[in-house]
Amino acid sequence: MTVVGCVIPAAGRGERLGGPLPKALRTLRGMTLLEHSLRAISAERDVAEIVVAAPVDYVAEIRAVADSSAVSATIRVVPGGAERTDSVRRGIAALRSDPDVILVHDAARPLVPLEVTRRVIAACEGGAPAVVPGVPVTDTVKQVDEAGRVVRTVPRSDLRAIQTPQGFHAEVLAKALEISSETATDDASLVEQLGVPVLVVPGHHDALKVTRPHDLMTAEAILRKRQVDHVR
Ligand code: CTP
Ligand code: MG
Repeated sequence: MTVVGCVIPAAGRGERLGGPLPKALRTLRGMTLLEHSLRAISAERDVAEIVVAAPVDYVAEIRAVADSSAVSATIRVVPGGAERTDSVRRGIAALRSDPDVILVHDAARPLVPLEVTRRVIAACEGGAPAVVPGVPVTDTVKQVDEAGRVVRTVPRSDLRAIQTPQGFHAEVLAKALEISSETATDDASLVEQLGVPVLVVPGHHDALKVTRPHDLMTAEAILRKRQVDHVR
């Protein structure tokens, strides 16, 4: 059986969201974004171990959330780093179960549906070394220069907005993190630099990243709809 471990980078400040607390500790319908994310990921029973990278000055608070969360997977909390990639590095170094497949999931994506996590793991198990969930882009995307002038319009049908959890064969991710000194907004881009193919599987709009206050409102609406659907 495949051993699946998960790293949750949760060490960001949440500057674009604002407010006094780091984003992972902000609540959505009375529950922290971190606990939502822990529950969402561990809904996949194959995930046996989770490491959370916490803001260095909030390790105790993050640990308290992890300890009190209604999650059966083993959770370990480590201090994160200055950049997301540093937090992921520290998280991976703390995995103890020698996983075959490593998922990396943003704490800031609290509502990722189980089907997305399953799709990512299944593609990794099927032999893909790196797998990311993605959704079609609905806005027209233009590349601009420093003066704000349009350089070109990127054909939209070629574009995907990439989400998490991203899944990797453990040795591929370890190698990418070891070789690259760069930081990146996702982990697959480090793997791409190795020349390793990255597969995109369908994501889900519920897996949105809570970045700005408006995203919290969207997430609340998704949760409300889930409750209504559940009662019906
Ligand atoms: N992250 C992290 N360590 C960092 C920076 C980010 O673990 N040094 C995590 C965040 O906690 C989040 C995920 O990476 O779960 C995605 O980052 P982002 O949405 O940019 O979150 P923040 O960096 O917290 O937000 P902002 O950029 O607005 O400050
Ligand atoms: Mg950030």
